[in-house]
Amino acid sequence: MDWGMRNRIARMFGERSGHTVMLAVDHGYFMGPTRRLENAGATVAPLLPYADAVALTRGILRTSIPASSTTPIVLRVSGGATILQDDLSHEAITTPMKEALRLNCSAVALSVFVGAAHEHPSLVNLAQLVSEGEDTGMPVMAITAVGKELEKRDARYLALACRVSAELGAHLVKTYYCDDFSKVVEGCPVPLVVAGGPKLDSDRAALELCFNAISQGAKGIDMGRNIWQSDHPIAMMKALRAIVHERATAAEAMDVLTAEKERLGA
Ligand code: 5RP
Repeated sequence: MDWGMRNRIARMFGERSGHTVMLAVDHGYFMGPTRRLENAGATVAPLLPYADAVALTRGILRTSIPASSTTPIVLRVSGGATILQDDLSHEAITTPMKEALRLNCSAVALSVFVGAAHEHPSLVNLAQLVSEGEDTGMPVMAITAVGKELEKRDARYLALACRVSAELGAHLVKTYYCDDFSKVVEGCPVPLVVAGGPKLDSDRAALELCFNAISQGAKGIDMGRNIWQSDHPIAMMKALRAIVHERATAAEAMDVLTAEKERLGA
């Protein structure tokens, strides 16, 4: 790996922990104005200081993130389908690599849809993007998307999707947490980060998901709704950071969350 690629990756992963807390706010590219992300700039601004990277589209980057921000950017570069379609897998590359470079991004991210109608083009898109990433020093993160089929989130499927992504050259893979998650980690030779998925019943459940993923080998999280749809998003960021960077348990992270809520008078 050349210096530029290594530098981009290093900026997103803590020097001491080797882990990362990415803040995902790219949902609008297929879901529209998602609850509590209607005004993305207002949602993101107070959370940016606690994020090791922020994952978004070029539209939200340009309109909603100050150019003075030093938070590394993971640019979503795939799209082309919306939740109004049954088949969410019909995506293409929507933002060229040269734009990711111009926007000073630290990585690009695209969805791959293993087993879905448009599996083939999504995997070819990944392979092509990796070739461009190798040429330019830009890390590529594959996202093992499941579309509306949330029940696909099991170890057998995710291990396959993550391994295929790594074999095609992805430098990082974002996937979901599942039972037997260590099997997914075992089969994937590149760092894995986990998404949170739809909002869980409680902040505690999201912290447990994070703890379980990290303790089974995930190198971080790339979480959205369980942070900014929480009533206490800053406290959630701090609690998640305690797990990811300080190896706190879910119970210890709950203490961080409670202390932060009290500090903010919530
Ligand atoms: C949307 C995404 C999201 O970034 C990913 O799912 C993480 O967000 P959340 O924690 O809300 O699931 O890839 O396509």
